[in-house]
Amino acid sequence: MTKRWLLAGVASLTTTAAWSAGNVVAGMNASTPCQACHGADGVGISEEIPNLAGQKVAYLQAQLRAFKSGDRKHDVMSPIAKQLSDADVENLAAYWNSLPVGGPPKEAAAAALAARRPQMTFPTDFPAAFVNYYTQEDAPTKSSTRYYANAVALQAARAGKPLPNGSIIMVEGTTGGATTYYSGMELREGWGQNVPEVLRNGDWSYALFNAQKVRGERNNYAMCLACHKSVASDSFVFTLGKMTQ
Ligand code: HEC
Ligand code: HEC
Repeated sequence: MTKRWLLAGVASLTTTAAWSAGNVVAGMNASTPCQACHGADGVGISEEIPNLAGQKVAYLQAQLRAFKSGDRKHDVMSPIAKQLSDADVENLAAYWNSLPVGGPPKEAAAAALAARRPQMTFPTDFPAAFVNYYTQEDAPTKSSTRYYANAVALQAARAGKPLPNGSIIMVEGTTGGATTYYSGMELREGWGQNVPEVLRNGDWSYALFNAQKVRGERNNYAMCLACHKSVASDSFVFTLGKMTQ
């Protein structure tokens, strides 16, 4: 054995020691929530979602650890990664690495599809039965964002209780006095039951509507779940504090 060979061996051991290999099958089992956005085949379902199929194990692990620790920040990926254990990170990296680049398209798991889809419909009693609890105005663009809550939500918030079944919050965007869109969140018993835990917001469901109150069917509602998960301790509501003022 030459000294040169020995040194090369030590060098390669050092680089591989930076990460330990995970279990592909365990990673596959943990991949359901990821499939909602990164696709079952590891191809991101929209422009802003990167592909994971065939990506290097060390890179995947490093990114997930960075999202977990906060070294890399992203409103959607950070809350997801914070829920992963060290073993999940290793297994998921092994699984996504194992998928072929340019492999055949695969249908996402039923639970991943459930996370993408909306359940709530436009509330028939809006705005009559709602209170406008907060408004943001932007003078230069003559636009406003108005936040509304129904009585069930408002009463619980003011009593310092978690928002209960039947709570609805609506946001109305306007420009020049005309409505441009609505977004909403509604809590109904059972609505979250098919959503993977990593994305689940209790039984809240999210939806976007155009000015004519028609629901967007092609939006990826897993994005809403992932980002609002970061305020789980506030009933998944970012502006909860505004309701109690
Ligand atoms: C709600 C959508 C969504 C879900 C669910 C999701 N991701 Fe992501 N992921 C994203 C987005 C968006 C980005 C791009 C982040 C950025 O731009 O910095 C991303 C980035 C990543 C990256 C970095 C890729 C790169 O090239 O740097 C990794 C790794 C990753 N996700 C892994 C996962 C894993 C593993 C899961 C499941 C546990 C998961 N993601 C679930 C939306 C999602
Ligand atoms: C990247 C993070 C992010 C994503 C993705 C996201 N939201 Fe939000 N959402 C927020 C923030 C932050 C606020 C509070 C805004 C403020 O304080 O001005 C908010 C507020 C809301 C509110 C008012 C109640 C509350 O939580 O304060 C509703 C309703 C809402 N979002 C619906 C949606 C819907 C529907 C989607 C998906 C189509 C969505 N959101 C996606 C971050 C997000």
